[in-house]
Amino acid sequence: MKEKLEQIKAEALKQIQNSNALDKLNEIRVSYLGKKGELTAVLKGMKDVAAEDRPKIGQLVNDTRQEIEAVLEETKAKMERAVLEAKMKSEAIDVTLPAEKNFIGHRHPDTIVQEEVERIFIGMGYEVVEGPEVETDYYNFEALNIPADHPAKDEQDTFFINGDFLLRTQTSGTQVHEMEKGKLPIRMIAPGRVFRSDEVDATHSPSFHQIEGLVIDRHITFADLKGTLAEFARELFGENTKVKFRPHHFNFTEPSAEMDVSCFKCGGKGCRFCKGSGWIEILGCGMVHPNVLTMSGINPLEYSGFAFGMGLERVTLLKYEIDDMRLLYENDIRFLKQF
Ligand code: DAH
Repeated sequence: MKEKLEQIKAEALKQIQNSNALDKLNEIRVSYLGKKGELTAVLKGMKDVAAEDRPKIGQLVNDTRQEIEAVLEETKAKMERAVLEAKMKSEAIDVTLPAEKNFIGHRHPDTIVQEEVERIFIGMGYEVVEGPEVETDYYNFEALNIPADHPAKDEQDTFFINGDFLLRTQTSGTQVHEMEKGKLPIRMIAPGRVFRSDEVDATHSPSFHQIEGLVIDRHITFADLKGTLAEFARELFGENTKVKFRPHHFNFTEPSAEMDVSCFKCGGKGCRFCKGSGWIEILGCGMVHPNVLTMSGINPLEYSGFAFGMGLERVTLLKYEIDDMRLLYENDIRFLKQF
């Protein structure tokens, strides 16, 4: 009997040692210690053992059972620990690894310049307003003193939608919208998209942006226009920037001018950037035409004002020394990332 128990124990331990999975261990437990297990069978055979030997044999069976159980438990714990360790290893996070790149957006150079222009004018007490991109002939042309036979109204230059509607060719119509509100004085800038029937090339696009400006109050003179735009140029291009006004013609201003700034590259000496002249053209401006004031319900004998308009892309190209406007619209991330 004793030998039989020894044999069972040895076999059980061997099987436990060779087992490699938790279910396997369970099978071993059942096959030795379960109701129909080998050790249980030995207990059942006790009735054939002599009465005086029974306590001794019973003790032996119990010891064997406990030994097998202890090894089973120990092996089970070991296996469970190994499983947990493997799991922890596979789920481990290496905090020293570089983080995954999170690509958040980036301001477009046009936006950077627009916000800079807005900041400068807000600092001078201006309001930033917006006008509609789809306009009527009245706001885009007529109310700006542009007569019906003006060449700008040709289909070659303007995208007409139908009847009276068109895509605005300039932001100047926002002047009219603001004046019609009937609230004076006005100090506003109006950035926005404009459209012209142009072929795409290095300096043209059928869609681009302008920033319009308008001031209406009592006693506004050309001196206010010059002082304001000179200060603006200094803030945008640097404090040594000089400005120069050349006479020009716009239907909605009288007198009208174009403003040049001293080349911020060479300081005015003349370089490749300013094509040797020392000056760079930046915007159109003038004193609001009395006809425009009258059409918008403002008495030109009581109020006067000045207006200006600049191409946003033009300023962006100059400021960042970009030589092809198409780069601003292609949205190539490698290009945009530089600003
Ligand atoms: N709207 C003009 C253009 O598209 C620019 C301009 C010139 C706007 C003079 C003005 C201005 O407000 O006074 O060329």
